[in-house]
Amino acid sequence: MSPLTELAELAEQFETEAAEITDQAAWEALRVRWIGRKRGIVRERLAAFKDVPPEQKRDYGQAVNQLKQRVEARLTELEASLGAAPVAAAAILDVTLPGRRPQLGSIHPVSRVAAEIVDIFNGLGYSVAEGPEVESDYYNFEALNFPPDHPARDTQDTFFLNDGRVLRTHTSPVQIRTMKSRKPPIRILCLGKTFRNDNDLRHSPMFHQVEGLAVAEGITFGHLKGTLEAFLKRLFGPETGVRLRPSYFPFTEPSAEVDITCTFCRGDGCQVCSQTGWMEILGSGMVDPRVLEECGIDPDRYSGFAFGLGLDRVAMNRYGIPNIRVLFDNDERLLRQVKR
Ligand code: PHE
Repeated sequence: MSPLTELAELAEQFETEAAEITDQAAWEALRVRWIGRKRGIVRERLAAFKDVPPEQKRDYGQAVNQLKQRVEARLTELEASLGAAPVAAAAILDVTLPGRRPQLGSIHPVSRVAAEIVDIFNGLGYSVAEGPEVESDYYNFEALNFPPDHPARDTQDTFFLNDGRVLRTHTSPVQIRTMKSRKPPIRILCLGKTFRNDNDLRHSPMFHQVEGLAVAEGITFGHLKGTLEAFLKRLFGPETGVRLRPSYFPFTEPSAEVDITCTFCRGDGCQVCSQTGWMEILGSGMVDPRVLEECGIDPDRYSGFAFGLGLDRVAMNRYGIPNIRVLFDNDERLLRQVKR
């Protein structure tokens, strides 16, 4: 048999033997038999190189090297499949290291506050109503009893479109849309984006409001006060004090501005609350009879209350965010910080 034919047969024989290996001991025996230092078959074939006739040396050299590489590769492969794998993995896996946490998303502080408020009012029987962000002057102002020369209509405060429509300056137009399309009793909550031409640390041209409206027979100012107290204590904690101050809005009469105990100093007086111990949190009042009438609701039979507050302010208080823009910069670090 020529040395080359012999190598070809050895290669086949090795494959047959390798295919039968099922445990560590058999693997070790195979290794010694084929590439063992003393009498390994491959080693002997390499040594036989010197006896190969000169004209066959090149082919023989190539073939024997191929056999050697094949045997080594196959042995490594077998070793890995024979449970040597866990040993190798254990060497690179330090089980005492802290694991790698999957990156979880988190809810934006404004959305979180919005969800909380919706939840509180769902419990009080309110449902969520929606309205457009681009409004007519009628829904945003006129139907809400704003006189034609009211300063809010000035371009200083309101973003006007070329066709005379406005970016809604508050969520109150949703009151009008709801009262015009539904019959009392009405209990709705409207949340959404609102727009004013304002821009400083506490004001952004786009901000979020939530507005509540209740209309039914026999609704009184006492219902308004009770509802707001229940709501604000749920939102800011049961020890929160609530006080109402007389105020004015064109669409409510009487109107009240509502303060809560300062969330920073808990009422002792600090810089944030200008030493008063109180912070203003929302506007409210009894729906003006003229507004009810405009919406086709008989003011002699029905009455109602409404209130509105800024969601961004609540989020800023809650998470100690000093600058409203931080809420809208889309910087992921904010979301990581407020994640609970
Ligand atoms: N719409 C008022 C504002 O934007 C808030 C408000 C709502 C006041 C409802 C009274 C009743 O300032």
